[in-house]
Amino acid sequence: MANEDAGLRKQPSWYFTTAEPHKSRNDLLSFIKDVQRQRNGLSSEDIHGIAVAWGVTASEVYGIATFYSYLGTGPRARNVVRVCKSTPCCLKGCDRVAAEVERVLGIADGGVQADGSFSLSTVNCIGECDRAPAITVNEDVYQGVAAADVRNILSKYGAIQGGEDARA
Ligand code: FES
Repeated sequence: MANEDAGLRKQPSWYFTTAEPHKSRNDLLSFIKDVQRQRNGLSSEDIHGIAVAWGVTASEVYGIATFYSYLGTGPRARNVVRVCKSTPCCLKGCDRVAAEVERVLGIADGGVQADGSFSLSTVNCIGECDRAPAITVNEDVYQGVAAADVRNILSKYGAIQGGEDARA
Protein backbone atom coordinates (compact mmCIF):
# COMPACT_ATOMS: atom_id res chain seq x y z
CA MET A 1 0.00 0.00 0.00
CA ALA A 2 2.79 2.40 0.90
CA ASN A 3 4.57 1.67 -2.40
CA GLU A 4 1.30 2.04 -4.30
CA ASP A 5 0.69 5.33 -2.50
CA ALA A 6 4.20 6.54 -3.31
CA GLY A 7 3.62 5.61 -6.95
CA LEU A 8 0.47 7.67 -7.07
CA ARG A 9 2.28 10.63 -5.65
CA LYS A 10 4.80 10.48 -8.48
CA GLN A 11 2.06 10.71 -11.09
CA PRO A 12 0.41 14.11 -11.26
CA SER A 13 -1.61 12.75 -14.19
CA TRP A 14 -3.62 10.77 -11.63
CA TYR A 15 -5.35 13.99 -10.63
CA PHE A 16 -6.15 14.81 -14.26
CA THR A 17 -7.57 11.34 -14.81
CA THR A 18 -9.64 11.60 -11.66
CA ALA A 19 -10.85 15.06 -12.70
CA GLU A 20 -12.03 13.84 -16.11
CA PRO A 21 -15.61 12.84 -15.18
CA HIS A 22 -16.13 16.25 -13.61
CA LYS A 23 -17.17 18.53 -16.40
CA SER A 24 -17.60 21.99 -14.97
CA ARG A 25 -15.97 24.25 -12.43
CA ASN A 26 -19.10 23.77 -10.32
CA ASP A 27 -17.93 20.20 -9.76
CA LEU A 28 -14.78 21.22 -7.90
CA LEU A 29 -16.31 20.47 -4.51
CA SER A 30 -17.38 16.97 -5.49
CA PHE A 31 -13.99 16.42 -7.11
CA ILE A 32 -12.25 17.31 -3.85
CA LYS A 33 -14.55 14.88 -2.05
CA ASP A 34 -13.70 12.13 -4.55
CA VAL A 35 -9.98 12.68 -4.13
CA GLN A 36 -10.32 12.70 -0.35
CA ARG A 37 -12.26 9.43 -0.42
CA GLN A 38 -9.86 7.72 -2.82
CA ARG A 39 -6.73 9.01 -1.08
CA ASN A 40 -8.07 8.45 2.45
CA GLY A 41 -7.39 12.07 3.29
CA LEU A 42 -6.25 15.28 1.71
CA SER A 43 -2.54 16.04 1.88
CA SER A 44 -0.88 19.26 0.76
CA GLU A 45 0.31 17.35 -2.29
CA ASP A 46 -3.28 16.39 -3.08
CA ILE A 47 -4.32 20.02 -2.78
CA HIS A 48 -1.59 21.00 -5.21
CA GLY A 49 -2.49 18.18 -7.61
CA ILE A 50 -6.17 19.16 -7.57
CA ALA A 51 -5.29 22.79 -8.19
CA VAL A 52 -3.11 21.92 -11.20
CA ALA A 53 -5.70 19.51 -12.66
CA TRP A 54 -8.47 22.04 -12.20
CA GLY A 55 -6.60 25.16 -13.20
CA VAL A 56 -7.21 26.98 -9.93
CA THR A 57 -4.90 28.10 -7.15
CA ALA A 58 -3.90 25.83 -4.30
CA SER A 59 -5.25 28.40 -1.87
CA GLU A 60 -8.67 28.15 -3.52
CA VAL A 61 -8.67 24.38 -3.10
CA TYR A 62 -7.44 24.72 0.49
CA GLY A 63 -10.15 27.31 1.19
CA ILE A 64 -12.87 24.94 0.01
CA ALA A 65 -11.39 21.95 1.85
CA THR A 66 -11.26 23.81 5.14
CA PHE A 67 -14.57 25.66 4.79
CA TYR A 68 -16.76 22.55 4.73
CA SER A 69 -16.77 20.48 7.89
CA TYR A 70 -17.31 17.35 5.77
CA LEU A 71 -13.97 17.83 4.07
CA GLY A 72 -10.95 19.06 5.99
CA THR A 73 -7.31 18.35 5.35
CA GLY A 74 -4.91 15.72 6.64
CA PRO A 75 -5.35 11.97 7.00
CA ARG A 76 -8.84 10.57 7.26
CA ALA A 77 -9.92 7.71 9.49
CA ARG A 78 -11.79 4.72 8.08
CA ASN A 79 -14.83 5.81 10.10
CA VAL A 80 -15.53 9.49 10.55
CA VAL A 81 -17.77 10.46 13.47
CA ARG A 82 -19.20 13.97 13.56
CA VAL A 83 -21.18 15.40 16.44
CA CYS A 84 -23.25 18.52 15.82
CA LYS A 85 -22.46 21.24 18.34
CA SER A 86 -24.78 23.96 17.06
CA THR A 87 -27.28 25.49 19.47
CA PRO A 88 -30.39 23.37 18.74
CA CYS A 89 -28.43 20.17 19.28
CA CYS A 90 -26.68 21.53 22.35
CA LEU A 91 -30.00 22.52 23.91
CA LYS A 92 -30.90 18.84 23.63
CA GLY A 93 -27.70 17.49 25.17
CA CYS A 94 -25.02 17.42 22.49
CA ASP A 95 -22.34 17.83 25.17
CA ARG A 96 -23.35 14.58 26.84
CA VAL A 97 -23.41 12.82 23.46
CA ALA A 98 -19.99 14.19 22.49
CA ALA A 99 -18.54 13.18 25.87
CA GLU A 100 -19.84 9.64 25.44
CA VAL A 101 -18.41 9.38 21.93
CA GLU A 102 -15.05 10.54 23.30
CA ARG A 103 -15.25 7.98 26.09
CA VAL A 104 -16.20 5.07 23.82
CA LEU A 105 -13.62 5.89 21.14
CA GLY A 106 -10.91 7.01 23.53
CA ILE A 107 -10.17 10.14 21.52
CA ALA A 108 -10.94 13.81 21.97
CA ASP A 109 -12.57 16.21 19.53
CA GLY A 110 -10.35 16.46 16.44
CA GLY A 111 -8.60 13.20 17.28
CA VAL A 112 -7.92 10.06 15.25
CA GLN A 113 -7.43 6.64 16.82
CA ALA A 114 -3.87 5.38 16.54
CA ASP A 115 -4.88 2.59 14.15
CA GLY A 116 -6.84 4.98 11.95
CA SER A 117 -10.17 3.28 12.66
CA PHE A 118 -12.12 6.30 13.92
CA SER A 119 -11.89 10.04 14.04
CA LEU A 120 -14.09 12.44 15.92
CA SER A 121 -14.93 16.02 15.17
CA THR A 122 -17.58 18.41 16.33
CA VAL A 123 -19.27 20.30 13.52
CA ASN A 124 -21.85 22.96 12.92
CA CYS A 125 -25.42 22.17 11.96
CA ILE A 126 -25.80 19.15 9.71
CA GLY A 127 -29.39 19.94 8.82
CA GLU A 128 -31.08 17.54 11.22
CA CYS A 129 -32.15 20.07 13.85
CA ASP A 130 -35.76 18.88 13.88
CA ARG A 131 -34.61 15.73 15.68
CA ALA A 132 -31.66 16.99 17.68
CA PRO A 133 -29.15 16.04 18.83
CA ALA A 134 -27.70 14.59 15.66
CA ILE A 135 -24.49 12.81 14.78
CA THR A 136 -23.15 11.21 11.64
CA VAL A 137 -20.92 8.20 11.18
CA ASN A 138 -19.49 8.27 7.67
CA GLU A 139 -22.55 8.90 5.44
CA ASP A 140 -25.08 7.65 8.02
CA VAL A 141 -27.15 10.16 9.99
CA TYR A 142 -28.46 9.50 13.49
CA GLN A 143 -31.10 11.79 14.95
CA GLY A 144 -32.41 12.20 18.47
CA VAL A 145 -29.27 10.58 19.86
CA ALA A 146 -28.96 10.14 23.62
CA ALA A 147 -25.65 9.42 25.32
CA ALA A 148 -27.03 5.95 26.08
CA ASP A 149 -27.37 5.29 22.32
CA VAL A 150 -23.77 6.05 21.45
CA ARG A 151 -22.25 2.70 22.35
CA ASN A 152 -24.82 0.83 20.28
CA ILE A 153 -24.38 3.13 17.28
CA LEU A 154 -20.60 2.94 17.28
CA SER A 155 -20.60 -0.82 17.76
CA LYS A 156 -22.18 -1.11 14.28
CA TYR A 157 -18.92 0.19 12.88
CA GLY A 158 -16.70 -2.04 15.00
CA ALA A 159 -15.80 0.54 17.64
CA ILE A 160 -16.43 -1.85 20.50
CA GLN A 161 -14.67 -5.16 20.35
CA GLY A 162 -15.00 -7.84 22.96
CA GLY A 163 -17.61 -5.71 24.74
CA GLU A 164 -15.03 -3.14 25.82
CA ASP A 165 -14.94 0.58 25.11
CA ALA A 166 -11.61 2.16 24.27
CA ARG A 167 -11.37 3.56 27.80
CA ALA A 168 -13.40 0.93 29.68
S1 FES B 1 -28.23 22.14 15.07
FE1 FES B 1 -27.60 20.11 15.10
S2 FES B 1 -28.34 19.32 13.25
FE2 FES B 1 -28.89 21.42 13.16
